[in-house]
This record gives sequence, structure tokens and C-alpha cells, in this order.
Amino acid sequence: MSEDSNSAILDPISSVTEGCRLPVLMTNGEDWPLAEIISIKDTDAGKVFYVHYIDYNKRLDEWVEEDRLDLRKIQYPRRDLASSTTTGLNTPKKTLTGATNSRPSSPGLTPDPITGPSVLAALQQKQQKLKRRKLDHGEEDDGRRSSIGSLSGSIGGLADIDIPSLTPLTPQPPSTPQQPPASSVPRQTGSLATHSDDHAITRIKNMKMIELGKFRIKPWYFSPYPQEITNLDCIYICEFCLKYRKSRKCLERHLQKCPFKHPPGNEIYRKGSISFFELDGRKNKLYAQNLCLLAKLFLDHKTLYYDTDPFLFYVMTEYDARGYHIVGYFSKEKESSEDYNVACILTLPPYQRKGYGKLLIEFSYELSKFEGKTGSPEKPLSDLGLLSYRSYWKQTILEILIGLKPQEGQEKPQLTINEICEQTSIKKEDVISTLTTLELINYYRGQYILTLNKDLVESHRRMMEKRKIRIDSKNLHWTPKDWAKRGKW
Ligand code: ACO
Ligand code: ZN
Repeated sequence: MSEDSNSAILDPISSVTEGCRLPVLMTNGEDWPLAEIISIKDTDAGKVFYVHYIDYNKRLDEWVEEDRLDLRKIQYPRRDLASSTTTGLNTPKKTLTGATNSRPSSPGLTPDPITGPSVLAALQQKQQKLKRRKLDHGEEDDGRRSSIGSLSGSIGGLADIDIPSLTPLTPQPPSTPQQPPASSVPRQTGSLATHSDDHAITRIKNMKMIELGKFRIKPWYFSPYPQEITNLDCIYICEFCLKYRKSRKCLERHLQKCPFKHPPGNEIYRKGSISFFELDGRKNKLYAQNLCLLAKLFLDHKTLYYDTDPFLFYVMTEYDARGYHIVGYFSKEKESSEDYNVACILTLPPYQRKGYGKLLIEFSYELSKFEGKTGSPEKPLSDLGLLSYRSYWKQTILEILIGLKPQEGQEKPQLTINEICEQTSIKKEDVISTLTTLELINYYRGQYILTLNKDLVESHRRMMEKRKIRIDSKNLHWTPKDWAKRGKW
């Protein structure tokens, strides 16, 4: 028996190392799911362990004390697997699902895979783009993403389906001083690619709490705020200009000088208390960078980019007598060769699950309609992103199908997939994947028909009743710019 294993028996806690897996008692729960030790810290009160619950999203990762570890069932990392399955840092393996499902969803979420060709095509294009950028930066391609290409052919054919007729309702059987320090930043290429998670430091939440306007919010993920403020119990962010301060006093001093009561840029939409501001990542760089830093606290699967020049930002606010309060935002490339109409999207946690996410998504498609284009969100989607988009696509497409009337002289309404795309600006592949997931497509007597059963129509009616806030295109005052013609962002 080695010395190591002897000491493990005498003091089991000292045998716990990074990479070990064992049941851990979750906060606010009675469950002891299997977790991996990501990091270990000595404190005055003893050792504390940063754990990742294997079958749960990374936002639930946390520091726990010894008493929450079930040492009887500890599994030690196998040396031969150290570089692959048990890295001790659990590098998420990107898969073809469209979601970052190496960090599976929170309890209650079941994000099943998008297998639509747009996801695969996007991944492939991204892979090539990344390769080009890496080569531009003199980096070598490590070939980590090379599995993506091989599968795409197998379902590529789906894109060509055309569905000539519909049979609805037939009863038949979803920098500056604020510039973060380079040292704490994983990568600053300006890439939107999924981060490679190669930095141990970025695995661990580094911020305890933020205060933004009237809310105190607990961050979900790492964000590269300057190291000196990450040790604080809370950082204080101006809800209008997004500058951060290390104490409430400092923020109060800032607020006396801060001239803003809304995000920078142009207000391009207003209905009731909801407004959208469009701002240019080049012209409003500091705000855009601070927005990215804030967003990164809740977005795990995207690289934070400091080069905000290629992006426009659409910030949604809610107005009251104190000003225009940020609710959420999405960013959008000025020019997207992949037809992405959203790069990153976020509803701030206090506003989540109230329909604002769908409102942001609806707005992004409204912009695409004004541009006369179809669009799709940048992949991969997060678990919550996937749920929200699926739900939006389903409701939007069903709304059209249910509203269809047969043309004169025809018994059944007719509609092509292209017409659905034109009316919704949803990219063809996403329309097809939605119809397929809903199992609406049937092949009957030599043609494809869509059949809607009464239950689906009824559940759709109930869902739409809940969707109280909607985008009203009449209130959008916006002319798209042709960034390709301008030659310069
Ligand atoms: N658990 C289960 N379902 C959820 C949850 C949750 N925690 N959150 C949202 N949903 C579902 C809702 O039930 C709703 O579906 P339904 O209407 O069919 O019931 C749908 O998702 C949308 O709900 P909204 O209230 O409109 O969306 P919300 O304001 O919560 O915003 C968003 C959704 C933007 C994804 C939000 O969760 C978020 O900001 N998450 C963190 C950042 C993120 O993951 N962004 C997406 C990344 S992908 C990309 O950037 C392209
Ligand atoms: Zn301010």
C-alpha cells in the first residue's frame, strides 16, 4: 500500500483532490447528486470545495464545506483518463445538440437536441471561421472540433422538403479604468466562439453578488471583472451606464455625476413602458464592454469579446419615473455570413420567466422582417436559450397555421415552408426542425401534409393567452443599414 493511500484512510478529507467525484448535498435540497471537485481552498474554518454537480447546469456549481461531502462513495480520478473524461475541470465537450449539454440543464429542464441542419451547418461554418481566425492569429488548429463535419450529411436532405398543402384542425392522432485586466481574461480575439474552457480560473464563479438598480443578483458564471473587485462581497453597478464600483458609497458618488437615465444609442421602439435602444459597439464601446461583462455573469457558453465594433446591441428597458431600467438585451453582428440575427441574448435574472425573453426574440425577428431576411440565433444555444427559442418558434408557426384559410376554390389551406419563412423571418431549417419536433408533418397520398389536432390548438390558445406583452411593428422606427456597402463598421 502506498503512503498516499495510508494517509487517505487516516484522514479521508485530505485524500479529496481536484477531479474526485462523490455525492454532495446540494444547497436548498435534500439531494446528494454526484459532483466533481473542481477546486479546493484552505480557509480559517477549514477546507472548502468548489463542486460541479455532474448532471446539472454549471450555474449550480458552488463552494461547500466538508460536511456536505459523502466521502464513503468517493471516486478518485483515474490517471489514464486524466486528459479526457475526468479532467478535474470537466471541459465541456461540444456536441451536435445545439445546446451546451455537457453542462446538463437545471432540474426540470429537458433540452433535447436540435438536429436541424441549420445547427450543423452553423457549427461547420463556425468551425471554418474559427480555423481561419486562428490561422490569422498564428494559432495552430488543435482539431478539437473536427468531428462536426462528418454527421451533417446524414440529415442535410431535410432542408429540401417542401410541404405543399396543409390540413388544419383535422382531429388526428414543442482601457479605460473600466477595462478589465488582460491577466484575468481567457481570450480576447473578438471571437464569438464557444470558449474552450482551458483556463481553470474561468470555471469558478468569481463574483459573489452584484447590485444593479433595485436588485441584488447572484451571478451564475465567471466573468472577467478586474481581480481586485472580485473578492468583494458585492459590486455595485450603475443601471444606466453599467460602470461598476466597489462600494455603495462609490456608486452613490457616481450617480450624482452620471448624466444617464437610459442606455446610450437611439430609442428605436417604444410601446407602453417598454423601449428598445440600439447602440453601436464601436461608437459606444465602453457601455458595450460593460454590458458584455455583465452578461457574461449569466452566459456560460460564449467567449466574452472586447472587440465590440462588429456588433450592434439592442437593449430592452422598462420605464418608470426614475428612468429606463435595463431588463435584457441581445447583440447582433453588423454583417453575418451565417444569417445570424442574434449573437447573445439575455434577460436579467430578476426579470426572467415573465415573457421578456420571448419579447427580445420577437423583436430580433421583427428587425429581420424589416431587413427582408430570415435569421437564426448563433449556436450553440444555452439550455434556457434553446427552450425559449423552441417555444417561440412553435408559437409563431402555430399562430400562422391556425390562422390559415383555404383560398377560393380550394378545400384545404395551402402554404409552403418558404411562405412560413417569409412571414416570420425564421430560417427555413428552424421552421423544419420545429414542424418535425411537433410531429406535424405527415406524408399522405404522395404529398406532405400538416395536421393539427384539437389538443395542440387548444394548448396553443392557452399559451398565447399568457403571452401578454408583444412587439407591435407599428412602434418600430428603424431603417436597416447595409453594413457591407459602408465598408467600415
Ligand atoms: N426553466 C424552465 N423553463 C424556462 C426557464 C427555466 N428556468 N426559463 C425560461 N423558460 C422557458 C419559459 O417557460 C418559456 O417557455 P413557455 O412560454 O413555453 O413556457 C420560455 O423559456 C421563454 O420564457 P421567457 O420568460 O420569455 O424568457 P426569459 O425572460 O426567462 O428569458 C433567456 C429566456 C433569455 C434564455 C433567459 O433564460 C436568460 O437570459 N438566460 C441566461 C442567458 C442565456 O442562456 N441566454 C441564451 C443563450 S443562447 C444565445 O445567446 C443565442
Ligand atoms: Zn452611470
